[in-house]
Amino acid sequence: MPRPRIVVTRRLPGAVEARLAAEFDAVLNPSDAPMPAAALTEAMRTADGLLPCVTDGLGAELIATPGRRAAIVANFGVGVNNIDLAAARAAGLVVTNTPGVLTDATADLALALTLAATRRLTETEAVLRRGGWDGFRPTGFLGMGLQGKTLGVVGMGRIGQATARRAALGFGMRIAYFNRSPVGPFDFPAEPLPSVEAVLAAADVVSLHIPGGDGNRGLISAGMLAAMKPTAYLVNTARGDIVDEAALAAALAEGRIAGAGLDVYAEEPTVHPALLAAPNVTLLPHIGSATLETRTAMGMLAVDNLAAHFAGRPCPSRVA
Ligand code: 8YV
Repeated sequence: MPRPRIVVTRRLPGAVEARLAAEFDAVLNPSDAPMPAAALTEAMRTADGLLPCVTDGLGAELIATPGRRAAIVANFGVGVNNIDLAAARAAGLVVTNTPGVLTDATADLALALTLAATRRLTETEAVLRRGGWDGFRPTGFLGMGLQGKTLGVVGMGRIGQATARRAALGFGMRIAYFNRSPVGPFDFPAEPLPSVEAVLAAADVVSLHIPGGDGNRGLISAGMLAAMKPTAYLVNTARGDIVDEAALAAALAEGRIAGAGLDVYAEEPTVHPALLAAPNVTLLPHIGSATLETRTAMGMLAVDNLAAHFAGRPCPSRVA
């Protein structure tokens, strides 16, 4: 029997590509160029499976490609807001993701952004690099300490919990959180609050850990930002569309919040110009899971899903 043909939309770590080539008729993308919609449609028609990532939009129209041959989409990433899951379910297209393996890397980056924002790393380094540092001053570049402050976690899933654990046990922060469904107990103290707004009002640092897409789009609106303390910081390692970026930029510019640390944007790779112009925000290019170890583990889990599917076994992490 011929090996299943898998279209891999972007370059993946070497060990993952080697495994794909060994186990499948893998069509790799050595140039790493983002795949145009026409190429995705062609992949849907000619491949048995796709291994896409966040840069590939798999909307209802693509999923409904006439003569579709692909039976499975093994997404590289835990977030699946790039895929219309309802359309996939309706079309009988299997969709899998990569939960768990990127939890620690993403939580590490949430803490990195927390420290970058509260200790003003981006702003102060920029001063130094442009030759504007005139020497140490006892009152120069003061930020906010984390010990005893409250981290407000919106979404207490795997990554929210890992972020909270680091903040509580590593930095002595109090944890307040909102989660849609009851969750816990945890191995660190954490107080559930009844709403996102209550968490925003209580927090010195707010960290977002909810999915993007329908339901959460624009959740952190101008009104929600107004609930935050003027001394508080916003950190987003989840999805950019959760935040109204124009409203955030205005809140930063007007000092209605103290600062922010962002790794994700509503229209990647475009970053809202008002955010680019703001000195009190650290802006990273979606690197939450960007370690060789994590990206390799993500790729291997995507391949595990493909291997299970084509062997007739249940996929380890199926979402549709
Ligand atoms: C991925 C992510 O690198 O897993 C996710 O949801 O946001 C990132 O860690 C990205 O989505 C790749 O598709």
